[in-house]
Amino acid sequence: MAENNGLDPQDWDAFRAEAHGLLDAAIDRMRDAADHPWQPVPEGLEDVYAIRGGGDVGARLISDVMPHHGGNTHPRFWGWVQGTGLSSDILSGIAGAVINANVGGRDHGAVYMERAVIDWARRCMGMPDGASGVLVTGTSQATVLAFAAARVRALDGVRQAGQGDARLIAYAAQGVHNATRKAVELIGIGSDNLRFVPVRDGQMDCGALRRMIAADRAAGAVPLLVVGTAGSVDMGLFDDLNGLADAARDEGIWLHVDGAFGAWTRLAADPWRGLTDGIGRADSIALDFHKWMYVGYDCGLVLMRSEEEHRAAFAARPAYLQGAERGLAGGDPWYCDYGVDLSRANRALRVWCALESRGEAAFGDAITRNCALAGLMHDEVGRRSSMLQGPAPVSAICVFSARRGLSPADQSALNARIAQTLQENGEAVFSTTDVGGTTMLRAAITNHRTSEPDVRAAVAAVDALAEELT
Ligand SMILES: Cc1ncc(COP(=O)(O)O)c(C=O)c1O
Repeated sequence: MAENNGLDPQDWDAFRAEAHGLLDAAIDRMRDAADHPWQPVPEGLEDVYAIRGGGDVGARLISDVMPHHGGNTHPRFWGWVQGTGLSSDILSGIAGAVINANVGGRDHGAVYMERAVIDWARRCMGMPDGASGVLVTGTSQATVLAFAAARVRALDGVRQAGQGDARLIAYAAQGVHNATRKAVELIGIGSDNLRFVPVRDGQMDCGALRRMIAADRAAGAVPLLVVGTAGSVDMGLFDDLNGLADAARDEGIWLHVDGAFGAWTRLAADPWRGLTDGIGRADSIALDFHKWMYVGYDCGLVLMRSEEEHRAAFAARPAYLQGAERGLAGGDPWYCDYGVDLSRANRALRVWCALESRGEAAFGDAITRNCALAGLMHDEVGRRSSMLQGPAPVSAICVFSARRGLSPADQSALNARIAQTLQENGEAVFSTTDVGGTTMLRAAITNHRTSEPDVRAAVAAVDALAEELT
């Protein structure tokens, strides 16, 4: 028995009992997820969480922590774009805590597992053998890494000399996620140099893109990259990725695809599978396992077509990080050479446990079901003459208005009020978005627990509440 160091349990049998109790409660909670919608945070919770030390943590996790969640584990949660989490996360959480791997590099299992997970995703996205990637917190960080690599390609020596007075330009469609704006700001392009390309039939107009690039070049700027979207955050729309890949190739600029959630339609059945055609031609893809692959937070991925370009943007090893042929300092390549983090969490374990326990096909089926449920929601709204359908869902996002025949301002106020009321009474979580100047209800069904009765009941609840409020 090790000597008492003050931090490990003094009584391992007592700890075992505490942990078993927590595990049972955790499994019950996940099994009964439908009984646990989001509820407003009770007053005084900050005080409950004030650090006092020495408490019975196992019991307090059950009584004070697990009840106050964000609700995205519930079958009728469709707000923003969030994943549900999987039972395999419980297993990976336990094993991951015991290993406590730092996946910045060195020669240990978690590094090899991350390679396996990235290789699976690479094949899934149709990127060539030899493409590389790194797991990150999410698509926001993945986007920064991708843009940094694009900048190194465009400006020789930028890592050492800085950008100087080169005026770099990035292009994206109007509905691009805010992560692109942040990345453009962070790597020194500046958001004034993010050009919004007109959209035609829900997709970036590739002809307009080419004309804008030519005009910027003529004005002495450096067109750097174009961002294609595979699954827009508002409406779940997809750009013509083959058209963008052709334009990027002809213009010699970097094609980045934001596939945060929508990239995973590659696993779905037709007609959704084809939405991402051409994605494998991108120079980089950002995507999240924590959204539409349902694994627990956080886990995003950036894939880069060229490992050489990926390393060129980030590789640097001072003396204290030198690798070796053998021993723990072996295991080259190290992930610290593929991004900004040196110390890194073992995110691959969550993905590996998910795929190994359920198999790839189960995820494709769940994604297909989610798309079909968005269509069902659209149809349920259409069946009610009092409600107003939004555009037909392209993937898993359905937008609609609780009442037709009202002014945009009244419709907006009603939809916002309904979203809030349903959240607070625990019936369903919709978020809202702006569609042509009107606030509409929006459901992003990236939730493997949602069933047809959930969708029907939620639309009925919206209708009933609208009746009451108007
Ligand atoms: C299309 C799109 N891009 C980027 C992001 C940002 O991803 P993350 O929250 O993983 O940083 C989101 C988040 O919802 C998204 O929907």
